[in-house]
Formats: sequence, C-alpha cells, structure tokens
Amino acid sequence: MAPMSTPPAPAALPRILSGMQPTSDSLHLGNYIGALVNWVGLQQDFDAYYFVADLHALTVPTDPEVLRRRTRVTAAQFIAGGVDPKRSAVFCQSHITEHAELGWVMNCLTGFGEASRMTQFKDKTAKGQNANVGLFAYPMLMAADILMYDAAYVPVGEDQRQHLEITRDLAERFNARFGETLVVPDAYIVKGSAKIMELTDPTSKMSATNSPDKGLLLLSDEPARLRKKIMSAVTDTESEVRYDVETKAGVSNLLVIHSVLSGQRIEELEREFAGKGYGDLKKAVAEVVVDAVEPFRERMAELLDDPAELDRILADGADRAREVAVATMARVRDRVGLLPSVR
Ligand code: TRP
Repeated sequence: MAPMSTPPAPAALPRILSGMQPTSDSLHLGNYIGALVNWVGLQQDFDAYYFVADLHALTVPTDPEVLRRRTRVTAAQFIAGGVDPKRSAVFCQSHITEHAELGWVMNCLTGFGEASRMTQFKDKTAKGQNANVGLFAYPMLMAADILMYDAAYVPVGEDQRQHLEITRDLAERFNARFGETLVVPDAYIVKGSAKIMELTDPTSKMSATNSPDKGLLLLSDEPARLRKKIMSAVTDTESEVRYDVETKAGVSNLLVIHSVLSGQRIEELEREFAGKGYGDLKKAVAEVVVDAVEPFRERMAELLDDPAELDRILADGADRAREVAVATMARVRDRVGLLPSVR
C-alpha cells in the first residue's frame, strides 16, 4: 500500500468515478487487468471516487451475510490492487443514502420504453432471470451514482457503454428541464486493456457469473490452485506457440495473460517459446500469474483480518463522498421543487 503520507488528490483535478458490484467472493484476473489496473493508474491524474455498488447487488437476491462479506472483500481488493484510500475516496454505495434518493429522481425522468430497451436488462430477462423492479431501475441508479459526484469521466468496460449513454441523456434532460445543474459525464471506455478469456472455453470472456471455477483465475486462489488451473487450460491440437485468436484462442489467451503481467511483447514471447511445447508455455504463465497474485492475496488477507480497520477506511471514504453528495442533492431537491424542511 502507498505510504501513510500520500495526500488526497487535489480537488482541482478533474473527477472520475467508478464502481464494482460485490457479486462474487473474489475478483478474477480479468477484473484486475480489465478494470482495477486502470483505476490504480488514473489516481495520479484525477480526483478519483471508487465505490462498492452494494445497492446494485441487491437486484440479485443474496444471503445478507454473504453480501456483507463480499462487500468487504470487494473493497479490500480495490486496496490490495493499489487503490490508495488516502488519495482516492473508497466507499460503499449504501453508506451514502443520497444515491437511492437521486436514483428515484432519475427514475421519474426516464421513460418506461426507454428503460425497457436497455440491453443488459433485456439479456438478463431473456435468459430467464427472474427480474425484479430493481433490475429494471438499475441504469437509473447507476446514473445517480455518476451524476452525484459531477464526474467528468467514468472508466468502465465496453459492456457499460449503454449505461453511460443513458446517464448522459438523463443529465441533459434534467438540465434542460430544470436549468444547468448536473455535469454531463464522458465515458472513459478502457480500450487498450486486454480481454482475458475463460481457461476452459477461451472463446468466452472470463466472467464471475458465467465461467466455471476451473476457467477462472481468482485473485484469492492459492499458488497451487492457480498452477493447476493454468496447466489444465484448454489449448488446441497443434503444438506451435503462436498468437492467433481465430484458430488458437487458448494459446493466444495464455500469451496475453503472460504479456500483460510480465510486460513482454507477444512477439517476444512467440520467439522465446519457438520450438517449445504448450507445457512450457503454461509453466511460464503459471509463474508469472503466481508472482502477480501472491502479493495481492497477502495484502488482501491482511485487510480482511482486520475488518474494523477496513470499515474505518470505508467510513473515511464515505465522509469524503458524502460531502459532495449532500451538496448535489440539495441542488437537485431545490431545482425539482421539493420543499425544504425548515423551522
Ligand atoms: N454497473 C457497473 C458494473 O456492473 C457497476 C456500477 C454501478 C458502476 N454504478 C456505477 C460503474 C457507476 C461505474 C459508475 O460493472
């Protein structure tokens, strides 16, 4: 973790905000490489707000103890991955009650048809997921998360693009109806970052909800487990170590994982493994992955060993976030015509 003396990011820096849902017991390598590494890098140049989207997680019925555990795990993983809570605000969405309140205002600005067209909702219900109204309202709560903090940019993956678009629409609609109030954010779609695929089916993205455990490299996995999963990764019937996503998805995925974590270019790796077999490649990938995950796992264990300290960090983060949220909500209440409570 960063030294104790790190100052908070100067408020003059443009603000960014992002969140992750606490829907699994551990982040996986795809989350780490696809999102967390970027969050960490962005802290230098932005006033960053990173939160655990626990209210969003309620859209999928979860045992309360499990949700509490996963919320702490998710926060601990932000920090273990290098988010510095002294510099960036790390907090829990539900600690700022204004999110739900602004979410309601956003619901009341959204057309029923407009919400019905959101692809994530359509996909989930098409797959037979038993949808509740919270799942339907999910994008409007996400809009509230973002607009609450006057975020200039929102670093998210491609899958969240449509949610960013509705957020921009809602901000513009609010401003047109009630006067300039909310900052219209830009998406910061993280492009360059590599997509990590499932080890068991390298044509599907590594996903906490869809991949089998054997296909996932979890940041909480012990070295032996990581090695075992990598050694059993699906490859192909050839023997040449070569990057070709079309015909050699498994080998290509292993090369990408190695390259991202070791900093070696794919072409260099192809040369290094010329004439060697998949077993050699897998062994090398396993070592690179273990070297990256072990310090992370140790730091995470330390943080989870002291939940009181972790809760304190989250409370500090919430104090910072609340300051902004209370001010935004006061503006919004006034603009839409809610009566203030005064004596
Ligand atoms: N929907 C996002 C996801 O599943 C999580 C999220 C909730 C979020 N609120 C947000 C991301 C606000 C960015 C900004 O990944």
